[in-house]
Amino acid sequence: MSNNDIIVSLDIGTSKVRAIIGEVTSGTFNIIGVGSADSDGIRKGAIVDIDQTVQSIRSAVEHAEQMVGIQISEVYVGISGNHIGLQSSHGVVAVQNEDREIGEDDIDRVIKAAEVIALPPEREVIDVVAKQYIVDGLEGIQDPRGMIGVRLEVEATIITGAKTPIHNLLRCVEKSGLKVKDLVLMSLGAGGLALSKDEKSMGAVLVDIGAGQATIAVYEEGSLSATSTIPVGGEFVTNDIAYGLRTLTDQAEKVKLKYGCAWIDDAASDVVFKVLRIGSNVEKEFNQEDLAAIIEPRVQEIFQLIRQEVKRLGYNELPGGYILTGGTVSMPGVLKVAQMELAASVRIAVPDYIGVRDPGFTGGVGILHHVVRSYRGRSSGPSANKKNVNRNKQSAAPVQDTSKKPGLVERLKNMFSEFI
Ligand SMILES: Nc1ncnc2c1ncn2[C@@H]1O[C@H](COP(=O)(O)OP(=O)(O)OP(=O)(O)O)[C@@H](O)[C@H]1O
Ligand SMILES: [Mg+2]
Repeated sequence: MSNNDIIVSLDIGTSKVRAIIGEVTSGTFNIIGVGSADSDGIRKGAIVDIDQTVQSIRSAVEHAEQMVGIQISEVYVGISGNHIGLQSSHGVVAVQNEDREIGEDDIDRVIKAAEVIALPPEREVIDVVAKQYIVDGLEGIQDPRGMIGVRLEVEATIITGAKTPIHNLLRCVEKSGLKVKDLVLMSLGAGGLALSKDEKSMGAVLVDIGAGQATIAVYEEGSLSATSTIPVGGEFVTNDIAYGLRTLTDQAEKVKLKYGCAWIDDAASDVVFKVLRIGSNVEKEFNQEDLAAIIEPRVQEIFQLIRQEVKRLGYNELPGGYILTGGTVSMPGVLKVAQMELAASVRIAVPDYIGVRDPGFTGGVGILHHVVRSYRGRSSGPSANKKNVNRNKQSAAPVQDTSKKPGLVERLKNMFSEFI
């Protein structure tokens, strides 16, 4: 990947489809364009209507294109959902170079060896992430390139997903006239972007609370160790407001965005608004406290469910605490409720890039971050040049460096063509 390369991420969420255009500069990137469109055809993170989703993708991509004045032809697509699974794996190969110096091809082969696992027919490998390499028995190596050895091993995490949702996702993007460059697990992208190195190594939980789902990603010893999705999010809160104020969902969503507060003590009784009552033309006045009295218990419940799920995954107290992101955590007071319910250190993560300083963009920006880091220092990345490979050799993050291997997109495409 070279300077001035343009890369585009696509986050197909329950409430919004977001296309983000990044320009690669010196091993990192700037955001030069953003396009959002309301999502139709997605329920709780799952595609339920292909044509409507295609429309939303086209609209988000067109907005981004207009902002930058370019035409987008290929995208990196985020994937998430309760069908995602992680599996540990181990690969071993003999180093093939005559001088025994470990090269790119050895890494590709050892990753391929790790990828050979028994999978049920309805599941597919999405990605392979190296946790550590072992060279002639020496453990803890993050980047073995250039080392001398005979036996190269890798401890890896294999990310798998169910074929049907993967197929639907690929179908929608390709039907929108775009080429899928790669699929990126959103938790992996968001984790790389939002979590510090210390948080990842000490152990921390990243929670993306969107509109229809909350995605939990547990990081430990520097890498992603568990992930889970629960079907709660901002829509859950909106539905409760609609029910509580006896109004339509779109009115409830509007008042939530404008006056919503998750912590009753922070809500003001003199901030008032009117909503149209369902089944009549009569407007009724409420104040922010009335609204917070509906929101607070719902948000409490969301965090209780998150805490239970983290416990179910086998984690109790992680020193890095919780890092919250996703559109729902924009609401004032959410952090306080989270601190109470999770009884741990909690912070909110927002992407630190102009134009996307909103927790709803963490997933999409995280995809770009993951792509740039993955190809940094790799000669096999898209349009990688020698200069970049050399310059970034020391600073590259090898865990992600090896997560891409040639043939992944090809495999996904083959799989895709099997379906149609
Ligand atoms: N300022 C705000 N106050 C309250 N809620 C907000 C605010 N901004 C966004 N939201 C809520 O955040 C949710 C959207 O979050 P996000 O964009 O992360 O979801 P998504 O990616 O479309 O959905 P998902 O990840 O669940 O598939 C909506 O429910 C919206 O109402
Ligand atoms: Mg989302």
